[in-house]
Order: sequence, then C-alpha cells, then structure tokens
Amino acid sequence: MDIASGERIFVIGVESSCDETGVALVALNPEATEGTLPVLLSHALHSQIEMHQAYGGVVPELASRDHIRRVLPLARRVLATSGLSLGAIDVVAFTRGPGLAGALLVGAGVACALGAALGKPVLGVHHLEGHLLSPFLSDDPPKFPFVALLVSGGHTQLMRVDGVGKYKLLGESIDDAAGEAFDKSAKLMGLAYPGGAQLARLAEQGNPKAYALPRPLLHSGDLNFSFAGLKTAVLVQSQKILASYGEKEFDALPAQLLCDLAASTQAAIVEVLVKKSLRALADEKLTRLVVAGGVGANMELRKQLNSLCASKSIRVHYPEMHLCTDNGAMIAMAAAMRIQSTQQKANLDYAFDVKPRWPLDALSTF
Ligand code: KG4
Ligand code: ZN
Repeated sequence: MDIASGERIFVIGVESSCDETGVALVALNPEATEGTLPVLLSHALHSQIEMHQAYGGVVPELASRDHIRRVLPLARRVLATSGLSLGAIDVVAFTRGPGLAGALLVGAGVACALGAALGKPVLGVHHLEGHLLSPFLSDDPPKFPFVALLVSGGHTQLMRVDGVGKYKLLGESIDDAAGEAFDKSAKLMGLAYPGGAQLARLAEQGNPKAYALPRPLLHSGDLNFSFAGLKTAVLVQSQKILASYGEKEFDALPAQLLCDLAASTQAAIVEVLVKKSLRALADEKLTRLVVAGGVGANMELRKQLNSLCASKSIRVHYPEMHLCTDNGAMIAMAAAMRIQSTQQKANLDYAFDVKPRWPLDALSTF
C-alpha cells in the first residue's frame, strides 16, 4: 500500500451478500497505538426487503439486479457525506462470502473494477467476520478475548474470539439458523418476509408461557443448536389453534392468540440462545460476550442476556441497533481492522472470486 507514514488510510466497503446493498467509508491510522480503532466516516444502505416481500423470500436473480442498480449511487452518497473524492480511497473492500453467488459477484465486480480504475488494492471480507467485529463500531467496543454469539438469518454460531482472525468454533446450528426459525415461524403465522422483527413486536403483547414449545438441544451437553424441530412444533400449534376456531388464517382469529404464539416462539428461541451462550462463557472461562447478526436486534434476547450477565459480572456488547442487520460499515470496519492488526496484504491483481459457502473458522490463524 502506497501510504506515507502517519497518513490516514481510507477504506471503502461494499456489502452485497443477500438483500441489502451497503457502502461505507472507514478511516484508520496505520501508526495508531494498540486499542485505537478505525473510525466510521459515513455509510449508506438500501434494503430490498420490500421488493422480495411479494415472493415471500429473497429471489436471488432479483437481488443481484438490484445490487447493480444501487451500489454506485450509494458509493457516491457515502463519498459526498464524508467530503472525500474517489481519488482519496486507499483500499476497496467487498464481501467475498458467504452469501448468494450472484449477489456477491456484483459487489466483488464493482469493488475490483473500482480498485483497478484507481490503481488501489482490493480486499475480500468474510461477511460473518463483519458481523462479529461490528460491535467495535459502537460507543462501547469490546476487548479481546470474548465469546461471540453470531445470530443471523443464515448462521447461528458460538465462537471463541482471541483477536482479529483468531476464531475457534465452539458450536453451531445443525439445521436452521435462529433468524430462519424466527422468519419461518413468522411465515406460518401469516407475517410478511422476513417476519423476525414483526414476530418480536407481536411477542411484546403476548404471554410467553401460553404454549409449551420445545427448547431443542438445551440439555445436549454441547454448544450446538437445532431449530428445525421448533418450526415444526410452531406449525402443529398453529394448526391446532386454527382448527379450534374452524379458520384457515390467523387474520380471522382474536389478535391475542397470535401475540401469545409469537411470544411463546420467541421465548423458546431466546432461552436456548441465552443458556448456551452462558455455558460457552463458563466453558471458556471468559467474562465478555459479543452478540452480533440480525437476531442481535431482538429486545427480549438483549433483556435476558443483560440481566443474567449482570448477575454473573459478565460484560455484554452489541452492535448499534441499525448495524445489527447487514450493512457496509461492518465490511469496511472488518477490512480496516484486518489491515491494522494482521497487516493483511490487499490484492492488486484484481482477479476475484466469491465464496458462497465459507466457514468463518477457515480464516483462523491459530
Ligand atoms: O444478519 P442479517 O441481516 O442477515 C444475514 O446475514 O442473514 O440477519 C437477518 C435476520 C432475519 O432472519 C431477521 O428476521 C432477523 O435477522 N431479525 C430479527 C430481528 N431483527 C432482525 N429476529 C428477531 N428479532 C428481531 N428484532
Ligand atoms: Zn448478515
């Protein structure tokens, strides 16, 4: 990287792994003392959720086409907000995986074209590493080492994190992810894609003990998760409720029933996530927990973790609410933290690939 000593490095990050297009600019000082974090200058996001709602889920081809439309206007907006010109960019980062292949290729293609045009290096970032490091963008950043609970639409994992690139997988879902369990249960309740947040809103008005739903693998003795059976239990319970009223849709039923079912579903997912996170902390003898990924926005999960962890003198860190779901800031930040702490070399040949499947611990330098 052709940077004079003491000069700040500007990293632009592009996220396009699924149904959000995100672009962000982060600045880092290569000579900063240890513990000084890169700074987010600006970020911009376009969510495709409305477009996919008509189909009840993400349509990969439509996602790719929309990323193509959005990414350059978002990049222009981010540069304008931060008052930087295109020429000021030192590194172009993009999400290399995991995610939808076509969607990833849009971000990778644009990032590499931009890097080639500017003569600047490019760096492919792991999407889950972005989520994992996103709490470092908050006012209360964590310190290494910690246990991370990664809970997104596609992944549920517990990791031991000793530093950037030092990841040990402790446990993960053997089938559906926690976000998927929220979304699939929400769909069964007639809520629009991706119903997780809407289910959580209904749950606020409901009784979490109204329906007895399973807590899968709660006593398995390991740190793995399984949510596919819970979804089936929600289906059976929904059918029972509808049959008892002789109806086919929840719309025709008293609203409280749906709130109760939502609260019971949320309680089952949250209890398993909370108990396994505490077990991971105890096993690893650590007193710091980082929660990241879209489900990290769930208020019931935050409430229970906050109160249980406070009683055990465990610190819990979250990304800021608007950075829980996919965004460009976490990608630019992960790239900047990699450059700062692992002296990772960015790529100057612009031949790129994407990794739709890519385990996070494959990055580990252990
Ligand atoms: O991390 P993310 O944006 O995308 C992936 O990388 O998968 O996570 C999206 C997931 C979706 O399943 C969404 O329903 C869930 O996060 N989610 C929530 C809440 N907000 C978003 N789940 C439960 N409660 C919420 N408040
Ligand atoms: Zn994500």
